[in-house]
Amino acid sequence: MKVGSRERSVLFGGLLLLPFFATADAPLDDELTAAMAATPNIEAGKQVFKLCVVCHLTESWGVIDGSYPQLAGQHSSVIIKQISDIRAGNRDNPSMLVIAQEKVMGGAQAIADVTAYIQTLPMTPTPGVGAGERLGRAEKLYFRKCAECHGSNGQGDKKRFFPRLHGQHYAYLLRQLRWIRDGKRRNANPEMARRLGKLKENDLVILADYISRIKPPAEDVAPVGWKNPDFK
Ligand code: HEC
Ligand code: HEC
Repeated sequence: MKVGSRERSVLFGGLLLLPFFATADAPLDDELTAAMAATPNIEAGKQVFKLCVVCHLTESWGVIDGSYPQLAGQHSSVIIKQISDIRAGNRDNPSMLVIAQEKVMGGAQAIADVTAYIQTLPMTPTPGVGAGERLGRAEKLYFRKCAECHGSNGQGDKKRFFPRLHGQHYAYLLRQLRWIRDGKRRNANPEMARRLGKLKENDLVILADYISRIKPPAEDVAPVGWKNPDFK
């Protein structure tokens, strides 16, 4: 499958309708609850996922420069919550706002379906990493300030909606840490934002680097050179 002209026209047709979509939202909590409770259909999710590959790419690994995050490996609860937050306007994501609207990607069922499809994809074996400096200090900071929520191995916590962080691209992680510190990621956990606000810029740099280098369990990671067979 390639990104065909139909998907593109949905994308660009949607962009023109942005001001309309921006106000037409279901309440966040209802949608989150409905998507969490839905019985997902992976086949249907594969169809929805065609809308995502323009940016997150066919493996769902995003881009090393951090412009698009890797989605593979992320907890289903986190993916569902982030999509709901983006479309309800609780997390600013101008480039994805159009796609995330119900009229384009579908309702709670479609969120559940695409999330289930993403759960079938392995993680990138080669996430972007930083310069490799002061990783010892970064590890201490991580265990003091982050591990209680994101886990000692960066595995997050599915039940509590705490994102899995390990194996994510360094540049994306660093951008999120800056945005959370600066109050630009409005759905961020307030206690996390408070802690990040006390750290120096270089501490954010080494933390993002450290986290991107933590190895996810081998069984969750794709072999080098893996391509998504659904998109040949
Ligand atoms: C036009 C580009 C674009 C398209 C299409 C797109 N996304 Fe995104 N998505 C983004 C960007 C950019 C971000 C990161 C935003 C940020 O930096 O805060 C993102 C973030 C996300 C996140 C949050 C990840 C995290 O770790 O918090 C999820 C989940 C997500 N996208 C799912 C999807 C799904 C599912 C689709 C298809 C239905 C999709 N996206 C389509 C651009 C896009
Ligand atoms: C009190 C719990 C808590 C603590 C402590 C915490 N976080 Fe978070 N973190 C969260 C939650 C919850 C989210 C998801 C917020 C949302 O819903 O958007 C998150 C999101 C993130 C993200 C964005 C992930 C993504 O995929 O977009 C990064 C990066 C991150 N945290 C790093 C850190 C770092 C580094 C620390 C330590 C300085 C830290 N967090 C401390 C709870 C926490």
